[in-house]
Amino acid sequence: MLQKARKNAKDNGYTNVEFRKGDIERKIPVEDNTADLVISNCVINLTADKVACFKEICRILKNDGGRMIISDLVADREVEEDSVNPEKWCSCIDGALTKKNYLDSIRKAGFKNVKILEEKPYIGDQVDIAGEYKRRKISSLLVKAVKD
Ligand SMILES: C[S@@+](CC[C@H](N)C(=O)[O-])C[C@H]1O[C@@H](n2cnc3c(N)ncnc32)[C@H](O)[C@@H]1O
Repeated sequence: MLQKARKNAKDNGYTNVEFRKGDIERKIPVEDNTADLVISNCVINLTADKVACFKEICRILKNDGGRMIISDLVADREVEEDSVNPEKWCSCIDGALTKKNYLDSIRKAGFKNVKILEEKPYIGDQVDIAGEYKRRKISSLLVKAVKD
């Protein structure tokens, strides 16, 4: 992925981008208090500890005005740990928290002004195949939150 991203940037003359390898749950390879904005789409849902991810994002954001805009799936109920299906976890489905728990995780990590920018029903092909959509209501959420 990194090789491909670097090649695409080079081929298209994007000289103001850089790709770094990191683990959002443990260590984002960015210094404390340096980022103006963090964006993410359907990554945090794949992790086991959402609060740890949001704490890492909070750590790298600037204290004055640092913010994140994050998109992820949420569900009307969570899957019990012993019935997690790895394939559905990898499709961002089984790791989905409830909207309340997702927003609470953001606040627990230290964010303020947590706002939902958009919320819409999610009907993915993989979800339909698994019949999951009949069992749980899944939505796509776009959230903005500020560090200070
Ligand atoms: C569903 S894809 C989304 C990719 C991209 N954001 C997009 O919208 O097309 C999930 C991505 O999350 C990355 N990912 C999963 N767990 C991660 C972790 N703990 N730390 C960093 N990245 C992770 C995967 O490598 C993958 O690129």
